[in-house]
Amino acid sequence: MSFKDELGRKTDRVEEIVRKYLPKEEGYQATVLQAMNYSVTAGGKRLRPLLMAESAALFGDADKIDALPAFMAALEMIHNYSLVHDDLPAMDNDEYRRGRKTTHVVYGEGMAVLAGDGLLNYAFEAAASAFDGAASVEDYRRIAVSLQILGRKAGIYGMIGGQCADLEAEEKTDGVTAQTLLFIHEHKTAALIQAAMMIGAALAGAGQGDIQKLERCAYDIGVAFQIQDDILDVTGSQEVLGKPVGSDEKNHKLTYVTVHGLEGSRAEVKKLSGEAIEILSAFPRRNLFLETLVGQLIYREK
Ligand code: IPE
Ligand code: IPE
Ligand code: MG
Ligand code: MG
Ligand code: MG
Repeated sequence: MSFKDELGRKTDRVEEIVRKYLPKEEGYQATVLQAMNYSVTAGGKRLRPLLMAESAALFGDADKIDALPAFMAALEMIHNYSLVHDDLPAMDNDEYRRGRKTTHVVYGEGMAVLAGDGLLNYAFEAAASAFDGAASVEDYRRIAVSLQILGRKAGIYGMIGGQCADLEAEEKTDGVTAQTLLFIHEHKTAALIQAAMMIGAALAGAGQGDIQKLERCAYDIGVAFQIQDDILDVTGSQEVLGKPVGSDEKNHKLTYVTVHGLEGSRAEVKKLSGEAIEILSAFPRRNLFLETLVGQLIYREK
């Protein structure tokens, strides 16, 4: 099977899992449930749950890990909540995402705030449901460790922290350094990729040392991923991306392209991806699909 076919097959599988965990659109709160599902069912690459499953496969048989689907769905919900809020007028003020109108454009700003909050809470409810299938103390321990990782990497020391620094760096030209930029990229984007890979490993029974190796690997992948996102905001097209280009310029964002230029940015994506693949290829059990996926992200156009 070609890499592309395999990626398609695996993404379909993730899609199925994510949809299985979505709430039913019923009751007095039906509107917020519709808004949540509107954002999650719009497609998307499903990269984070995919990376979670592939990282688990480095240490065991991912299909046999009962707790994995709940965490895959939970992480995709958190990612989607971050996008719903990121697109709000108070943040990046963008009207398109994945080729559709953004959640606040369709449901109003208040409902979009609630849909994001709803997804964040429901994510933890979904992840904690993994305890229902736990059969041993070791199962409980792995799920508990994974919940800790999820909370930390999505929160103030992770994604939210990065979004805070991203907002504050708008309009600023002096006093912001390449270091500030790295803080932003590490936290707003790499943190959820780290959660994906670390949780996959933790649920498969990896030890602390291997989880730390994946934390570093996911840092490289995540920062490279956000640099590529910054590049595509300049060089991409809305038809392919499904979201507006020039959003960063409109908001006077600090991006890798504004600090290091297009060529410098492209070189950094390659360097970081190469480092990530090096870490992956040193594990005793190779996952060639995962290594290829990381290599392909360098050339992604969406
Ligand atoms: C967009 O993430 C936000 C960033 C962190 C750059 P993705 O590019 O993974 O978005 P979807 O889920 O595929 O739409
Ligand atoms: C994404 O940064 C960070 C998060 C949503 C956490 P961007 O603001 O660059 O993402 P896009 O370009 O809107 O997808
Ligand atoms: Mg943003
Ligand atoms: Mg944005
Ligand atoms: Mg962007």
